[in-house]
Amino acid sequence: MNARKPLFLLSAALMSAAFTACVQTKENIRLEHVNDTTTIVHIQNPSKYLLLPVQETSAEGKVKLDTGNPADMAMDVRLAVDSADYFVPFELPEGADEATVVIGKVNKNAACWNLIEMSDTFDVTNTDYYRPLYHHTPLYGWMNDANGLVYQDGEYHLYYQYNPYGSLWGNMHWGHSVSKDLMHWDHLKPAIARDTLGHIFSGSVVVDNKNSAGFGKDALIAFYTSASDEHGQIQCMAYSNDKGRTYTKYEGNPILTPFDGLKDFRDPKVFWYEPAQKWYMIVSADKEMRFYSSSDMKEWKYLSGFGKGYGVQPNQFECPDFVQLPVDGDPNKKKWVMIVNINPGCLFGGSATEYFVGDFDGTTFVCDNKPETTKWLDFGKDHYATVCFSNTGDRVVAVPWMSNWQYANLTPTKQFRGINALPRELSLYTQNGEIYMAANAAKEVQALRKETRDLGSFEVEKEQITDNLLADNKGAYELEMDITPGNASKVGIELSNAKGEHTTIYLDLKSGRAVMDRTESGITDFGKKAVPHEKETHDHRKTNSINYKDDFALATWAPLSLCAGKTYHLNVFVDKCSVELFVDGGRIAMTNLVFPTEVYNTLKCFAEGGKAAFGQVKAYRLSL
Ligand code: FRU
Repeated sequence: MNARKPLFLLSAALMSAAFTACVQTKENIRLEHVNDTTTIVHIQNPSKYLLLPVQETSAEGKVKLDTGNPADMAMDVRLAVDSADYFVPFELPEGADEATVVIGKVNKNAACWNLIEMSDTFDVTNTDYYRPLYHHTPLYGWMNDANGLVYQDGEYHLYYQYNPYGSLWGNMHWGHSVSKDLMHWDHLKPAIARDTLGHIFSGSVVVDNKNSAGFGKDALIAFYTSASDEHGQIQCMAYSNDKGRTYTKYEGNPILTPFDGLKDFRDPKVFWYEPAQKWYMIVSADKEMRFYSSSDMKEWKYLSGFGKGYGVQPNQFECPDFVQLPVDGDPNKKKWVMIVNINPGCLFGGSATEYFVGDFDGTTFVCDNKPETTKWLDFGKDHYATVCFSNTGDRVVAVPWMSNWQYANLTPTKQFRGINALPRELSLYTQNGEIYMAANAAKEVQALRKETRDLGSFEVEKEQITDNLLADNKGAYELEMDITPGNASKVGIELSNAKGEHTTIYLDLKSGRAVMDRTESGITDFGKKAVPHEKETHDHRKTNSINYKDDFALATWAPLSLCAGKTYHLNVFVDKCSVELFVDGGRIAMTNLVFPTEVYNTLKCFAEGGKAAFGQVKAYRLSL
């Protein structure tokens, strides 16, 4: 049943007289075109999946497994009108004799009707050139925010905003991957599916080690936003008693709605606040964050708001996190940090992550800085929706989604779209009397170093070029070095390929900036896509065209004043379509997507205006 067979069109004579509808059939599938845009798919002896042909420029059709239950939910699928870009699997009931799938808003003449088929298998062999080799990606479909990050019994759970029915934003589910080491991920079935209350937007998971919610000791409790035009954005909960594999939605949902009818009210972050012996929730509420507390996780009491007028303006607050960390490693000096993802507001356009350092008294968060101070967690353009794992003890590990809402739906991949950046360990340090948060690649990443090429230490007055940086370079490697600018005014590295495409990372001592320039990094214009807008959307998630010159072909920068000394330690991670820079243990983090059409395998170390020293330059081949 796997082979794609041409559809056998029944002649008019064969059509049942009882139907005015046109009927088409192929092995075990009968298509009943009820009217121009509604089709009932009658299935005998269903295989595991109905394979749906997707064309990304088609409008969304409605695909519903009809079991007669009012809770049956139609999924939005861009069924092929002219030709298929790829297929997605739509699960059919196991062991049933028959199944009915109702498809709306798709013309009866669309190409999909000839292409649709059943199969017991779905091939997930990678077909995308730009799929990273050591970063987390979904096997297929769309991914944005990592959410619900939690550690339990030796497993890291990475849930994420997932569309299983196409590689564009839509049908928000919580996709699910697990790992023992933050690097090797097993892909599991989506844990929470879109339902009649709405899309399953971002949120968090806690281990209920006190059985406060009554769903069992150590149950995993997920908090998420249900989002729909009908019900707005409301907070819901679900629980898992099988190590996070499946969740049961709480029958009393929603557990929290905005007291003032806010339209943007989402992404609940829940944590245990020891001094009050209570659970706390932070919800992003338009341009501020709101704190709530609860004893049973079901009844939430409003405490306070924070953030109006803070940081870059204007903005939209999303995906909060709130962590307490020692300053400069001193356990007696701890500070609270509020992580706020904002869209737009990025220094370089689109979405980015800022944070606020301060104190929390159990009711109110007071920021150390004036509202106009903005501190960035990352200075690239592709770092968003960053949140942290819960239940990791003293360690605070965050996972950023590596894209930008400006062009996330347009990037040049097909089978999947969406990558998570390297997990980062967060810590606080003092610099010039100010407290900042460093975000360094988690130590687990070091286990990926499979082979080292030691380029030694040298001085550069102009440039030093290393061709064939790594033999059989697959585009997945790390560079490590110390740079001492000396009297040079500009010093850095350029990674390039034979086509002249390059990404340059340099320290500009005159302007006091660390810069990453992707202006000529490869494909910088992925083209427009007429992604038609439908209801139940969020405008910014469906951007369908950008000004690539301003929005992608650019350089991003960070102030060198965040670093301590005269020598800068660089770790640079390259993985097919991304470059992540960490300076001095994450005092500067900079994450950018790049799309070179062949691997960068030439390293140029350069200096301008003087002599600079490069120390212990190493290239590591990285693989899982
Ligand atoms: C952030 C975000 C969240 C929302 C989710 C929807 O990128 O906009 O605020 O919950 O994406 O997918």
